[in-house]
Amino acid sequence: MLVLKSLHIIFVVSWFAGLFYLPRIFVNHAMVTDAATIERLGMMERKLYRFVTPIGILAVVLGLWLWFGYGFAGGWLHAKTALVVLLIVYHLYCGKLMRDFAAGRNTRSHVWYRVFNEIPVLVLFVVVFLVVLKPF
Ligand code: HEM
Repeated sequence: MLVLKSLHIIFVVSWFAGLFYLPRIFVNHAMVTDAATIERLGMMERKLYRFVTPIGILAVVLGLWLWFGYGFAGGWLHAKTALVVLLIVYHLYCGKLMRDFAAGRNTRSHVWYRVFNEIPVLVLFVVVFLVVLKPF
């Protein structure tokens, strides 16, 4: 179980690296106007999204394996899973925003993306306190 939990934490950390960095690229993408930089940022977004998606799937699958394989229970796990569903929606929405940028359809400002970028930070704080403290 400890090997599974170690792998779970490793993939969670890697997933969050992508969830923190991709919206940061969006912040820059929303500010630039020259074609060469727009092309480079678009390529970075596509490569990062393609890399971090399977990592996110592995983080969730390992979490579910821990949950159902080792009989974990409690309100903390339900609250945590609800927040993870929010993270999955956030991840998929980043994919939609990436496609909007690629099609020249972005309408959001860099300020909007700076606020959007903080959502995974808040979720990380709450999820880690939930899983370590198990308050309910
Ligand atoms: C549906 C998705 C997930 C499920 C079902 C899940 C489930 C679990 C379970 C059952 C444990 C073992 C708890 C223990 O040993 O006390 C665990 C550990 C952990 N999970 Fe998740 N998890 C999921 C996603 C996540 C995400 C997205 C994060 C990060 C924000 C996360 C962070 C952690 C941490 C830090 C631990 C280690 C806690 C400890 O050792 O005390 N998990 N997870």
